[in-house]
Order: sequence, then C-alpha cells, then structure tokens
Amino acid sequence: MNDNRNHSTFSPQKKIPVTILGATGVVGQRFLRRIADHPWFYPAFLAASDRSAGKKYSEACQWHLSGLPYAGYGDMTVAPCAPEAAFSPIVFSALDTGPARDIEPLFAAAGSYVFSNASAFRMDEDVPLLIPELNPDHCALLPVQQAKRGWRGAIVTNPNCTTVMLAAPLAALQARFGLDAVMVTSMQAISGAGYPGVSALDIVGNVIPYIRNEESKVESESNKILGTLVRNGSAASVVAAPFVVSATCTRVPVIDGHTLTISVRLKTKASLEDLVDAFRTFEPKTAAYDLPSAPSRFLALLAAEDRPQPRKDAEEDGGMRITVGRLRTCPILDFKFVSLGHNTERGAAGASVLNAETALAMGFVPSTV
Ligand SMILES: NC(=O)c1ccc[n+]([C@@H]2O[C@H](COP(=O)([O-])OP(=O)(O)OC[C@H]3O[C@@H](n4cnc5c(N)ncnc54)[C@H](OP(=O)(O)O)[C@@H]3O)[C@@H](O)[C@H]2O)c1
Repeated sequence: MNDNRNHSTFSPQKKIPVTILGATGVVGQRFLRRIADHPWFYPAFLAASDRSAGKKYSEACQWHLSGLPYAGYGDMTVAPCAPEAAFSPIVFSALDTGPARDIEPLFAAAGSYVFSNASAFRMDEDVPLLIPELNPDHCALLPVQQAKRGWRGAIVTNPNCTTVMLAAPLAALQARFGLDAVMVTSMQAISGAGYPGVSALDIVGNVIPYIRNEESKVESESNKILGTLVRNGSAASVVAAPFVVSATCTRVPVIDGHTLTISVRLKTKASLEDLVDAFRTFEPKTAAYDLPSAPSRFLALLAAEDRPQPRKDAEEDGGMRITVGRLRTCPILDFKFVSLGHNTERGAAGASVLNAETALAMGFVPSTV
C-alpha cells in the first residue's frame, strides 16, 4: 500500500477559476464533473467550437456521464475557445489535436497555465509530459518554455490514454532493474475515440486492429516520461530513457478502461518475487503532497489469475489507479503481465487535473494566479 501521504500541505486561499476547452466532448465532460466538485477550482468558462459557442451547455452537449446532468452547469452559455472571451489562469484542454495546436498557445501567451490532453505539444522538448507520480521534476521545463516562447503562462501535457498504463509499471521496473525492451498490445475502450467515435456496426462483436496515429505515441512517450531531467544553469532538458518499445494498438468493445498486455526484457537479472516486490513497494513521487485527485494507491498488483478486468477494476480510486496482474515469466523476453487503467480519467481528465494540482503544490504555478 502506497498511501503514506503527508496530508498537510498546499491549498489555495480561495478557489481558482478555470476554463475547460472542448467542454462538450467526452473528456471535457469528465473535466467538468471533476471541477464542479473540486476543492481548489471552479468552472468559470465552458468553451467549445463555433458550432457550440453561444448555446446553452445543455443544448450544445450530449451528456454521457452518471450523476447530476451537465454537472449542474446546463444553463451556462458555451464560450468560444479564445482568451479574449474565456480567459482563466488555469485552463484544461480537451481539444482535438488540430485545434489544440492553434488555440492552446493563445491562452499560454495570454498568461494561462494550460493543462492539455492533446498530443499537439507532448513531445516538444520544452513541454513537460507529466505523470506526477513518476516525473514531477519535469515541471522544471516550465521556466525554460516561458523564456523560449515569451509566454507568461505555459503548457503542460499528460500522456496518451494508453501510455499511462504502460509507463506506470515500467517505472517500477526501470527504477529497480533497468529496462531493455518492451512489447505491448493494447485493447482500448470505445470512449477513447471520443463521441460519436467508432460506429456500433464496426465495434460490436468485433476487434479493430488499428488506431490511427496511436502506436507511434505509445512507442515514444514512455521514454520521455521516464527520461532524466538534466539541468545546466537556468536551462533544463529531458534525456529520454533508452529502452525500446514495440506497440500494437487495437480497439475493443469495452466502454471505459484500456487493457494492455506487456512483455519486458530487463537490464539486470531478477526473479518473479523481485518483480512482485518492485510493484508492491513502488513509491509515487507525489507521496509527500496532499493532492485532491491523487489515488490512495497509484499502482496495485492483483494476485487473482483473471484480473485486472476493465469492468471490475477501471473505476478504482475514482478511475485514477493503475492495476497490474497476471505477472509471470516470458519464454521470449523476461517477464510479462497485464496492466489496466481508466482511459478518460487516469488517461485524460483526471490526469490533467492531477497535473495542475501538482504544479500548484510544487510552486511551479503561482497559487495567486
Ligand atoms: N477519449 C479519451 O480517452 C482521451 C484520452 C486521452 C486524451 N484524449 C484527447 O483529448 C482530446 C479530446 O478527446 P475527446 O475524446 O473528448 O473528443 P470529442 O468527444 O470529439 O470532443 C472534442 C471537443 O473539442 C471541441 N472542438 C472540436 N473542434 C474544435 C475547434 N475547431 N475549435 C474549438 N473546439 C473544437 C468539440 O466542440 P464541439 O462539441 O463544439 O464540436 C468538443 O468539445 C483529444 O485531443 C484526444 O486525443 C482523449
């Protein structure tokens, strides 16, 4: 159990207004539900495309979630995605990658700290690609980014919804044994494709062995996340971790929760018991902070031979837990196992909100914003 956090630290003096970009989409709705009930933030602007701007949120958005419809914000007028119309000091972006590339820099230049789900800036060398439990030190890229781009604000990204279920167990193994090679096959939920996403006729009773642009992200993002931050005076950069990843990404008829089968070759010799210990004792780097969206347990290893399963395990800890299981030796590489996480919470909205909490608690974003 990793729940040894010090529950005593940061909290802003008053709630911080936030803007949600792409608020009408699958991820945007999850942002709103989280922010509507958040101790540090409140939703000041819900923004979406020109198709939605000017309408009531309840008219512009097809609400998909349980609980209070529209999280109680159905009467709010949707704003356009422009800082002149929807500025907040903290911005959560659930935009598609194309619009994100144009819109997020406008908010960062205007002074917003933009916490983005989109892939547009993830691999830029001055942009943190953050999983707070693994690489919070990469926030040191923020002043570098601001100096380089002349922005008062900044952009912080979270990984692709599949990368997080990969990077979490890999971090535990890399820290203890070093990593050489990784083979991963994903079984990704339908909600990962947004709404309306994949047609029912294509996905019901079927597996689609291709997700456009996905494998290249899964094959590169973990190396950046598990890379080493190098400081040189006021400069900072990340040297990517050198292991190689081969990915096959598939879409399966599951609503929420991405499941990955992972095989690894380690740098040093280890026993099965060593791996069990590495997973069980892995310490998240956010353990010292009391963050509202942090799971009580970041990485859980299940012993049951038929777990993890999306329907039974994805919602644990508000969808913020990564669950691994079926750990065994691999006759080709060294070991293999299954990893599971919630793609729209741990892989999207929850991840961004946790990034913002971490950046605030660590002082990389001023709490007086
Ligand atoms: N779904 C997941 O599991 C997941 C996980 C991780 C990351 N992501 C990433 O998160 C982002 C959103 O994904 P999603 O699944 O929520 O997509 P989605 O359901 O299709 O929602 C897209 C949102 O972007 C808005 N939008 C589209 N074009 C726009 C434009 N030109 N200008 C301004 N707003 C625009 C839409 O507004 P309208 O309603 O007005 O069209 C909608 O609010 C994507 O970058 C995706 O790759 C998704």
